[in-house]
Amino acid sequence: MQPHATKITELYASLTRGEDLAALGEILVEGWVRTNRDSGSIGFISLNDGTCFKCVQVVYDDKLANHDVVAHLLTGAAIGVKGHIVLTPEMKQPFELRANEIVVIGEVEGDYPLQKKRHSFEYLREIAYLRPRTNTFAALYRVRSVLALGIHEFFQSRGFVYVHTPEITGNDAEGAGQTFTITTLDDKGKPSETDFYGRKASLTVSGQLHVEPFALAFHDVYTFGPTFRAEKSNTTRHASEFWMIEPEIAFADLEDDMVLMEECIKFCISYVLEKCPDEMDFFEKMIAPGLMDKLHAVLDRPFTKMEYTEGIEILKKAVQNGVKFENKKIEWGMDLQSEHERYLTEEVAKGPLFLINYPKDIKAFYMKENDDGKTVAACDLLVPGEGEIIGGSEREARYDVLRAKMEKQGNVEGLEWYLNLRKWGGCPHSGFGIGFDRLLMYLTGVANIRDTEPYPRTFGGLKY
Ligand code: 4AD
Ligand code: MG
Repeated sequence: MQPHATKITELYASLTRGEDLAALGEILVEGWVRTNRDSGSIGFISLNDGTCFKCVQVVYDDKLANHDVVAHLLTGAAIGVKGHIVLTPEMKQPFELRANEIVVIGEVEGDYPLQKKRHSFEYLREIAYLRPRTNTFAALYRVRSVLALGIHEFFQSRGFVYVHTPEITGNDAEGAGQTFTITTLDDKGKPSETDFYGRKASLTVSGQLHVEPFALAFHDVYTFGPTFRAEKSNTTRHASEFWMIEPEIAFADLEDDMVLMEECIKFCISYVLEKCPDEMDFFEKMIAPGLMDKLHAVLDRPFTKMEYTEGIEILKKAVQNGVKFENKKIEWGMDLQSEHERYLTEEVAKGPLFLINYPKDIKAFYMKENDDGKTVAACDLLVPGEGEIIGGSEREARYDVLRAKMEKQGNVEGLEWYLNLRKWGGCPHSGFGIGFDRLLMYLTGVANIRDTEPYPRTFGGLKY
């Protein structure tokens, strides 16, 4: 058995607790070489073991038995270092590890695609399996992990019940025809009655329809899992597999829904700032200067609310005043493109913006129709740099109204159970969906969804 290695995160944690690292005696640290520079009598290795964002500086000299090998270690090599901690408060790093012995555990061959220099996001996307070893992606995927726990903490601390809604489903929850069919039939001509489930099956586009019944039993619930959409959108914000958080609350209208959205986003910001200070600092310095100010500003003030109708008026005026949109024709009833959303959130609200009460014809069937007969009690949360990161609504709780709408769209079959909820103890209820990957983009300033997902799946893109 190997002697117990000390994790770099433990070293920094003891330092923070004010413990004397020099008194640890000889320790073993195992990790990967980030950089190595040797100047003959003395050499320095920046060693990262993945347990925290920070590296430890290893200092070695020519007395090492294998000095020649160590001096030529390349970026990426796996090594074990036995040595003593020396405190260096006057230097950039608070301590260093003076090596007595360095064992090479895994060498790196010369064709290793990661080098000391900065690589582009595009290049790193091609080697997705290696990019967690870079600073940017180490920071990003740790924040992703921490944020996932933050989401659970937010909802669980408020008494929400976590529901595992299925990934395989018989319905298209959004009614937008963007489902991936799953089948065991290799001959596509065969009727789906002969398939695995005896009916057409697909990957879920949203857990909402399955989570609503739980809200009508537990009051406050959420689902959080992978979601799949066959959207042929080749943008920086669309993935065909992404994670979605979908809370659903009973006895609640759109206003209650928006309160929860705002609290949730603010909680997530505070959470990552508190739990991942090194990573967030890195994003500020290397990826998105101004990120910290932006996030603190979001925490400090209430989100803006705007009616869809008012948004359209503002966009029309903007066009009259010479603002150039690719989609120039602005009219009531249109679905907003991301350029329009961004104009409203960046130029008008200058921060997160709730756009509410959309035309019913461009929104999903389950949304509550407003008294004007034209709009639904829907709400998108738009943020600068991205556009929509949340979509939500109050649900249509009236049986007759919902049934008529579903009949018109021809999707009653298979969803009778969903309609029954309106007959048996129905109540006003609301919910929303946060795109987890888009939220991560917002919190880190990373501009492409392909970078926030460990192995992105996008239109025409399936590698690894
Ligand atoms: O607005 P959407 O389609 O809403 C729903 O699915 C509702 N059922 C949610 C609910 O009320 N329970 O999607 C919600 C969010 C979007 O705002 C966006 O952040 C994200 O999911 N999203 C995507 N993220 C990445 N790639 C895609 N292709 C996405 N499509 C939606
Ligand atoms: Mg939406």
